[in-house]
Formats: sequence, C-alpha cells, structure tokens
Amino acid sequence: MKTLLEIFKQKVQEALVAGFGAELADTDPLVTPSTNPKFGDYQSNVALSLPKKLKQSPRAIAETIVANLNVADICDTVEIAGAGFINFSLKPSYLANLLSEIQTDERLGVEQVQPATRVIVDFSSPNIAKEMHVGHLRSTIIGDSIARILEFRGYDVLRLNHVGDWGTQFGMLIAYLREAYPEALTTADALDIGDLVSLYKKAKVRFDEDAEFKETARQEVVKLQAGAEDSRHAWQLLCDQSRREFQVIYDILDIKITERGESFYNPFLPEILTILEEKKLLEEDAGAKCVFLEGFTNKDGEPLPLIVQKTDGGFNYATTDLAALKYRIQEDDVERIVYVTDAGQANHFAAVFQVARKAGILPEKIDVVHVPFGLVLGEDGKKLKTRSGETVKLKDLLDEAVTEATRDLKDRLEQENRAESIEFINQVGQVIGISAVKYADLSQNRITDYKFSYDKMLALKGNTAPYLLYAYVRTQGISRKGNIDFSQLQGDKIVLEEAAELILVKHLLKLGEVIQEVERDLLPNRLCQYLFELSQKFNQFFENCPVLQAEEPQRTSRLILADVSARTLKLGLSLLGIEVLERM
Ligand code: ARG
Repeated sequence: MKTLLEIFKQKVQEALVAGFGAELADTDPLVTPSTNPKFGDYQSNVALSLPKKLKQSPRAIAETIVANLNVADICDTVEIAGAGFINFSLKPSYLANLLSEIQTDERLGVEQVQPATRVIVDFSSPNIAKEMHVGHLRSTIIGDSIARILEFRGYDVLRLNHVGDWGTQFGMLIAYLREAYPEALTTADALDIGDLVSLYKKAKVRFDEDAEFKETARQEVVKLQAGAEDSRHAWQLLCDQSRREFQVIYDILDIKITERGESFYNPFLPEILTILEEKKLLEEDAGAKCVFLEGFTNKDGEPLPLIVQKTDGGFNYATTDLAALKYRIQEDDVERIVYVTDAGQANHFAAVFQVARKAGILPEKIDVVHVPFGLVLGEDGKKLKTRSGETVKLKDLLDEAVTEATRDLKDRLEQENRAESIEFINQVGQVIGISAVKYADLSQNRITDYKFSYDKMLALKGNTAPYLLYAYVRTQGISRKGNIDFSQLQGDKIVLEEAAELILVKHLLKLGEVIQEVERDLLPNRLCQYLFELSQKFNQFFENCPVLQAEEPQRTSRLILADVSARTLKLGLSLLGIEVLERM
C-alpha cells in the first residue's frame, strides 16, 4: 500500500498538471508531513516555488492547485494558509478504511521493493586474537538493525563479518606461541581468549623490542602466506578459538552473520596492484606503493597517499578493502554496500572509495556508504572503562545488564505483590536487559558519542526499551482480560471520533514512511523515535478511551486500534533486534 506521503505527492502532481499543463509533470510537489497539527496532517509548499515560472502570485497558484485537487475521499478540508501553503487534513472515514486495510495485512501496509536487489551490510567485524570491544558491539547492534530493516523491505541482504584474520600480527603471535605455548599451536582449546589476548600483548612487546624476534615473526608470516601446513594449522586454531568467543556474544544478541574475513580476499590482492598499475595510479613513496588522493592533505597541505603495499611487500587493510569491493561487485552482484564502523574509519573508507572509483573497480551506479558511529562513554563522559580502569569485556557488560534488569524486576514484583515463577523472572530479566542495551544504542543518533548508563537504559519511563515493552504488554493485557482473539476482529465498521483515536491511527499509518526514511538515511534512531511516540500515543489512547467497556461499534474499532498498535510495536521492535514480552 502506498504511504500517505506518496498519495499526497501524487495528488498534488496531478493537480499541477490539470491546472497548468503537462510541463509541470516533473515538478517536485514539495509535500511533507505537517510539523504542527494546526496546519493539518500533510502540507505542500509547491505554490511558493513556482511564481517565477508561472508568473503568478503563490496564492493564486495555490488556489488553482486546490481547485484541481481530487482529494474529496481523503480530506475533510484543504486550506491555503499564509503566502500559499496548502494544508491537508485527513478524513476520519478515510483513516478508518486504511486502518481496516492494514489490519488484514501481515506487513501492516509496508510495501516491498521490486526487484529484490542485493545489498551487503558489512558489520561487527572484530579481530582474531583480540577481544571484541564496545566499538564492535555498536557495529553489531546497528548493523544488525539496518540489515533487518533492509530485509523487511525486501532486499536480498548479505550480512558479512569482515573479521581481521590476516596480517603480520599472526606471524608475531605464532612465533611467540612456538616459544611460550607450543601446545596452543597444535591442540584445540589449549588457550582461552583471555590468554590469547594477553599473549598477544606479550608478543607485541617482544616484537617491538627484539630485532631477532621480529625477523622470526616475519618469516612466520612468509611461511603462513606460502601455505606451510603447520602454520596454517596454528592459524586455524587461533581463528577457531576467537570465533567461538565471538559466537557467545552473537548468541546472546541473536545475531546472524556470515563470516568472510580478510584472509578470504588474500588471493585477489596482487591483482589490485596490477589494476592500479594499469590505470597509472600507482606511485612509490619511501619504498611503499601507494595512490595519492584528492582532497586529503597533511598539515603542510601535501596530498596524502593510500598505501596499498608496504615496503616489506605486505598488503594492508586498504588493499583488502579494495579487493573486497571488487569481489562484492563482480561475484556477489551487489548494488549497495553499507559499512558499519566507528567514525574513526571515515577517512579510510573515503580514500578506498575514491581509489576504487578511479580504478574502475567501483562503477558509478553502485552505492557505497560508510555508516559511522561515535564512541561509547562511561557515565563520567570518558571512554568506557571498568572500575579498575580496564577495557570492559562485552560478556561482562551484557551479563551486568541482565543482572540489573532482573534486580529491578524483582523489586517491582515485590512492590506490586506479584508472585512469579523463577523461569518468568529469568526470562523477562534477560529480555529486558539485552533489549535495554540494544535500544540505548539504537535510539541515539549514531553519529554522536553515547553515555552508557544502566540506570537510564533500564528506566520504565522515558525513551527506553522497558517503556516500549511495557506499552506492548498493555496491548496484550487487553486481549487477555477481555478474552479477545485479536486475529478474529472484523474491521468493516470502524468508527474513529475521539482525538486520541485519530492521533493514534495517523501515527500507525506512518510506519511505511519511517521505514523508507531509515532505508535511505540508515539512521535506526528514527525508527526508535517513531516507536517511542507510538507508545506514548497508545498510552494516551488507553488512558482516555475505554476499550472493553465501550459500546459497539466503538468497542471493535478500539480493539482493532489496540491490535494494530501491538503488531506495529512488535514488528518495529523486531526490526531493532528486540523481542517483545507478553507480560513483564
Ligand atoms: N576489523 C575492523 C576493525 O575492527 C573492521 C572492519 C570493517 N569492515 C571493512 N570492510 N573494513 O576495526
């Protein structure tokens, strides 16, 4: 079903053509949802953009448009305000028709894109033998939500985990383990990730201080790259070890992702150099091979290079991203690629995209977007740390959220004198805790840094997961209390009269617009804001309009409003990776 925004755009376009002729067919009708209900529900400012072209006053243009508008079924009133703004107010009977239409639609009126083109969401992407940190947590939560929204819209989404599983660090690590923990290179599970991380740090110290060790490490890389069996085996063990640790986090967060790490593109790296060479883009700088960039300069105003082959002959992060781009375009047949990483990598991606465009690897029609996000800060406004000043382990952070959510829940149950089973308490605590972490992250504009606070994210009031989950619980309370099977409601006699009903139904009908916006701008916080407002509007309705006690046809109409509110909340939350609760 078309969104109301699309409908009004079309209506204004038709009126323009009817009033002024076909040459106006391509004019942008400048329709937006009204920001203030005083100006109706939607408005068009198009009349103000045409006086020059049409040699008439905006007001006269607006009058001609209104005279040619065919919106009698849709609008109660169409008003011309001020200099020539056209304001549309939706008719309750039209809203009732649309509500009954979405009530019977599993997709709640949200259209699917045709054809289902392929999109890659490159997210999470932690590094082997290192701890997954809060930056990876943000990437995981934001990337998963973007992937879910694009999937729901009907795209063929490939969720890729570009793990850092290749590079000189493996030579260093293997060389160190050969000395210190030889069994770790031959036996699975000889180490756990914590050991691996601390060994990595020790290896790095040796590497930086000891020239002989550095040489050994270098030879290990050569061996590994040449495919020596024991090196490959050792590398595999290290990867498996880390992979299992990452999986623990993915399971807690319910993340589906396909691993295709940096090593995957290893065979395609030399070819990238050949292409750059052929395009005459490759230059040498202090022994390294690089491409000089446009628009990137150092403090002295000299152009900066993107290095693609280091002095020792090794390839790097950027070379791999170039090879990955080529592979994704040619083999995966992708049309849009979305990279979700911290804002610190903005220059890296801008440089890679620029070089890829110049080299002909990245055709104009392929849309590549870096989706940056800010830092996770502690309540003190500084980088998030444990009390003892160490980096926070993700598993601990998530466990703590569940512990705190469970404690809050127990307090509340006690205050409300409710006895619940231990299974109920554990399950509800788990869902609230994890949802709170996800929602706190997603509800911020991702570009800004965000302050991590268990108290704030777990609050029952405000723009939080518990508030939204609670609104859903209320909807389900109606069906339980009245013994109503929402799926059996007949929407042929809906009447909407009360202000709270009309406000709620108009908001419900905006879901499609919001989803299209997130699809375009990749800002999941817009969906959060929509769901938060939906919860508020539902609560207003619930407090002002009796449902089960109402007479027909109000009763059924309101039950349908409750049902569609519930399903919109459930669907919207699922697109954020959050599951709902029937009771809490
Ligand atoms: N492994 C990288 C990191 O931890 C993120 C990779 C992002 N994806 C990419 N195609 N470069 O920062």
